[in-house]
Amino acid sequence: MITHGDCKTELKKIKSDSIDLIYLDPPFFTQKKQSQKTRDNSKEYSFEDTWDSIKDYTNYIEERLVECKKVLKDSGSIFLHCDKSASHHLRIALDNVFGSNNFQSEIIWTYRRWSNSKKGLLNSHQAIYFYSKTSEFKFNQVFEGYSPSTNIDQIFQKRARDQNGKTKYKSDIEGKCELMEDKKGVPLSDVWDIPYLNPKANERVGYPTQKPILLLEKIIQLVTDVDDFVLDPFCGSGTTLVAAKLLNRKYIGFDISEDAVNLANERIANPIKTDSNLLKNGKDSYLNQSPEVLQILKEIDAMPVQRNKGIDGFLRVNDSTKPIPIKIQRFDETLEKAQQLLVQASSKNGFKTKILIKTNNFHEATLFDMHESSKDVLVIESVKDFVTHRDKMIHSF
Ligand SMILES: C[S@@+](CC[C@H](N)C(=O)[O-])C[C@H]1O[C@@H](n2cnc3c(N)ncnc32)[C@H](O)[C@@H]1O
Repeated sequence: MITHGDCKTELKKIKSDSIDLIYLDPPFFTQKKQSQKTRDNSKEYSFEDTWDSIKDYTNYIEERLVECKKVLKDSGSIFLHCDKSASHHLRIALDNVFGSNNFQSEIIWTYRRWSNSKKGLLNSHQAIYFYSKTSEFKFNQVFEGYSPSTNIDQIFQKRARDQNGKTKYKSDIEGKCELMEDKKGVPLSDVWDIPYLNPKANERVGYPTQKPILLLEKIIQLVTDVDDFVLDPFCGSGTTLVAAKLLNRKYIGFDISEDAVNLANERIANPIKTDSNLLKNGKDSYLNQSPEVLQILKEIDAMPVQRNKGIDGFLRVNDSTKPIPIKIQRFDETLEKAQQLLVQASSKNGFKTKILIKTNNFHEATLFDMHESSKDVLVIESVKDFVTHRDKMIHSF
């Protein structure tokens, strides 16, 4: 069910003690109108986020939190999404309505952003406050894998204290290590690294501040079961409702914008979720540079590039507007092949000067013909010479 209207009025129509999870992503007190066009520019969606004062804003939210509390079951939970604009005020509003004793977690949703030149730290997180209605709240414990640096064999060994109170690995009478019963992993932490929807993701519908379905799925799975009721009073494009539908939960959504309600209904009819390759394959799967290549890039002060066959890094030269692509010859590559890959990869973005670092002579049989080499590729034979005479070598090239 998705209804058009002010959630304060709509919440009053919901039966008390009937909802398992409320997720709300209200306007954040950004003091601007939020608007965005769809990818094909055919429509613009927007909502107002300007307020007379922070007091007005917090009163507005608090009045709606009171209604939320009424409709939640005693076993229910509420997740309020916000950012640095007013998070400190919203936490107090939640304490006022739900009681600080029912505060469970401050979840940090972190994501990568492109840097900008603004002075200060790059903002790359939002906060989600998790409160329960009572201490008897439903919670499905989720476990994550151990981090790569964890010494797994040690984790599986039982521990005991010696006569000095120091922990040591426990062993049986024969001196063999005693192993733990099944270890499930590490309980889910309160920092969630989930990619922001990229501008080309199919899931993106062009609604301002649209959240990723993956984020909502994580919340829904944590505190609800199949057939439970999920409610989003500020549903926007309907992300929560789509996630609830995909996980076989029942869903209710409200929004004051008719456009949003129509869009949410369309998404429900045709749910599209973009899987994150980053999450599926792990962050390390994006790192393909060997330590040897990284070492050379470091020596010549170049910035490494991952997952590119033809370019290993970029070099910034002071008086050049464009960075210079660098390729380091692999041991199983002829110089000619390395150059070919470098030229191909650079052609798309129109990089003129390119640098190829020669690392071996293993392929002398297929002699690299300098006449055939592209005149825009500077071949470096000695990294040491290049480090010392870098600018001269580039300029005289
Ligand atoms: C931050 S957006 C929600 C975005 C949504 N989570 C998504 O993924 O698309 C906030 C929404 O709250 C709606 N809104 C603002 N005031 C409202 C109110 N009093 N009742 C219901 N909806 C409201 C706006 O129209 C807007 O769609």
